[in-house]
Amino acid sequence: MNRILLLGGSGILGSEVLVQLHQRKINYAAPSSSDLNVKDRVNLERDISEFKPNWIINCSAWTNVDGAEDSYEAALELNAVAVKNIGSLAKEFGCRVVHISTDYVFDGESSRPYGEDAPVSPINRYGRSKLQGEDVLLEILPDGAYVIRTSWLYGASGKNFVKTIAKKAIHNETAKVVDDQEGSPTSARDLAKGIMDLIERHPKPGVYHYSNTGSCTWFELAQSIYKKVGADSNLVSPISSSTLDLRARRPKYSLLSKEKWKSTGFSEIPNWESSLATLLPEILVEILKSEKI
Ligand SMILES: NC(=O)c1ccc[n+]([C@@H]2O[C@H](COP(=O)([O-])OP(=O)(O)OC[C@H]3O[C@@H](n4cnc5c(N)ncnc54)[C@H](OP(=O)(O)O)[C@@H]3O)[C@@H](O)[C@H]2O)c1
Repeated sequence: MNRILLLGGSGILGSEVLVQLHQRKINYAAPSSSDLNVKDRVNLERDISEFKPNWIINCSAWTNVDGAEDSYEAALELNAVAVKNIGSLAKEFGCRVVHISTDYVFDGESSRPYGEDAPVSPINRYGRSKLQGEDVLLEILPDGAYVIRTSWLYGASGKNFVKTIAKKAIHNETAKVVDDQEGSPTSARDLAKGIMDLIERHPKPGVYHYSNTGSCTWFELAQSIYKKVGADSNLVSPISSSTLDLRARRPKYSLLSKEKWKSTGFSEIPNWESSLATLLPEILVEILKSEKI
């Protein structure tokens, strides 16, 4: 019987993992960030020694990509130092760890999907902090660490691109969206199910890539959202990322290859369009609920 400690259970991904744990009647603990600050090693050790998990799922992270440029130390504390503590405590208490990482470990200069062994070379500080987290975890816990890199996560919880654009679409507002970055959106629900599959089958530890299949630009994703909510997709216009003047650079291509996931025998990953169609109604409900308050 698995006992799972979920960290970051209130986030976009964590909240979907929480649903999976609950639905599957798994014995879990999911302390909030106010009950357990993952940067606090003493409290982390207390929770692990008391709950005695055999798995830790780490969905906690510093996810403010632009903010990491100015607050790099703070991003490192969460994305690398805390991950090191999670890894060393997992080793001490004999648990395996599923840790989530990002397509932003790549520089985006490729023209074909990145495999797990492709050279990493982050072009922003968030990506660097996440890469340090991957490295330190795999080094400390080579026999029990699973690093899942994902991209463009969205879900009904938390702030995310799909939700922001869906809100504009239902109000028939215009949206200017970059058309020079290509990748794959990932439904947090699909990834949460993928994490459960991984725990069930626990294949060889290491790095795995998971995003929905197919690819698009942010502009194409926005157009698809408009169409799916019945709004006029001509309200979305393409812009170049250089016009946004963001603090952090983004890779212009970050499609992840899912060959390893497939060849490991996991169930098929859904296409991004069909997953978007599945999750969008729940996202719309969340938007409407938040607007009623
Ligand atoms: N979002 C994306 O597009 C994307 C893309 C690729 C990879 N990823 C990776 O996927 C993972 C999940 O991302 P997400 O978008 O679901 O994140 P998110 O929505 O920003 O949620 C982050 C979670 O971390 C928790 N947290 C933050 N600081 C903490 C602390 N000191 N102690 C304990 N918990 C803390 C937050 O809790 P509170 O809410 O209480 O602060 C929240 O539950 C991350 O590793 C991220 O790097 C995300």
